[in-house]
Amino acid sequence: MATAIIGVGNIGSAVARHLVAGDELVVLAAKDQSDAEAVARELGPRASAASVGDAIAGADAVVFALWLDALRDVLPRNAQGLAGKVVIDPSNPLGFDENGQMIRTLPDGQSSGSIVASLLPATAHYVKAFGTVAADSLANSANREPRVVLFYATDDDEAAATAERLIRVAGFDPLKVGGVADAIRIEMPGGDLHQAGLNGALLDIDQARAALAATGATA
Ligand SMILES: NC(=O)c1ccc[n+]([C@@H]2O[C@H](COP(=O)([O-])OP(=O)(O)OC[C@H]3O[C@@H](n4cnc5c(N)ncnc54)[C@H](OP(=O)(O)O)[C@@H]3O)[C@@H](O)[C@H]2O)c1
Repeated sequence: MATAIIGVGNIGSAVARHLVAGDELVVLAAKDQSDAEAVARELGPRASAASVGDAIAGADAVVFALWLDALRDVLPRNAQGLAGKVVIDPSNPLGFDENGQMIRTLPDGQSSGSIVASLLPATAHYVKAFGTVAADSLANSANREPRVVLFYATDDDEAAATAERLIRVAGFDPLKVGGVADAIRIEMPGGDLHQAGLNGALLDIDQARAALAATGATA
């Protein structure tokens, strides 16, 4: 089955491009379906476009590359379709104020991951992944030698297996930081293992294991 990618902006289009380069089938959806169609056309025969509902229905894993405000609307409307699916969440607790300035939209200490996970049906398999580095780094650092690590966080074995597979297909090395309670560590602002919290550094697997070990976590 295909991997659905909902949202084809900075993060969604980079993930889609890397997965297609790794021979994965992707089905793309956006607010305006013509945006998804344009990216699908550019990516070629392994990519297609669909409505949000049809993209979810045709996939076993769904990457929600949306802002948290949009997720609060889109997830409840698609809850039935998400039953049993792996849900991959790159979101940060960020939004925009009335002047267009980016602001934190949740209290300190509350992760976007905890909100997204709480909006899913009980049978969905939730994982925080693919948002742990800036979009331009994600777009430009696939298949490096040594590979760049993308951290992920989940309490769910099926979600972990899918996240690891897709991160590898996309040209990166996966490393688990912990469960959903640790998602905040790989979000920005404030996450110590988000690229922004690492002073912009991209880590290889040895450096990433050392960064985790330095904070007492095990992987
Ligand atoms: N940008 C970064 O550096 C970065 C890094 C890490 C994590 N993240 C996180 O990743 C998420 C996406 O960020 P981004 O920079 O990729 O955003 P973006 O470039 O603004 O793209 C957002 C996408 O969401 C789609 N969308 C909005 N409302 C929708 C709806 N109701 N149904 C379906 N699709 C909808 C938009 O569709 P249209 O194209 O039709 O408007 C657009 O394709 C955010 O949560 C952000 O915090 C971003």
